[in-house]
Amino acid sequence: MTERTLSIIKPDGVARGVMGEVIRRFESEGIRIAAMKMIHMTQAQAEGFYAVHKERPFFGSLTEFMSSGPCVVMILEGENVIAKNRELMGATNFKEAAPGTIRADFATDIEKNVVHGSDAPETAAFEMGYFFNNFEIVG
Ligand code: TYD
Repeated sequence: MTERTLSIIKPDGVARGVMGEVIRRFESEGIRIAAMKMIHMTQAQAEGFYAVHKERPFFGSLTEFMSSGPCVVMILEGENVIAKNRELMGATNFKEAAPGTIRADFATDIEKNVVHGSDAPETAAFEMGYFFNNFEIVG
């Protein structure tokens, strides 16, 4: 089934120069990029995006980090792309991420873990709508 999901290259990934490498991994898996832009969120915008985590102890630090520099936000499209992207990303904690995944290769910290990817169709719909309107999604 063709799906869409939201991907973010987080501020650590942009700052460390792995944008191209992350995008290359998506493209080499046959994933289509249906929308893409660079943004620098305010902390309030990051709080809105991560509202589901607002009671978690890491919420303040996470939203501060996500607003600390520019991110690349993308809509990825392809067969089972929600799960496929999660597989390419690896586990949240890079120490538990499978070898060869983006987080295993590039993350430096449980928080500074390079990429975000929606985890289900419902969250993907919310997250894509948070950053993109219909005119920004191509093809
Ligand atoms: P979560 O949605 O659980 O993970 P994922 O990004 O893999 O979907 O958490 C969101 C982000 O919050 C996660 O990428 C990094 C950060 N985080 C922490 O800083 N500490 C933690 O203990 C957890 C679980 C997440």
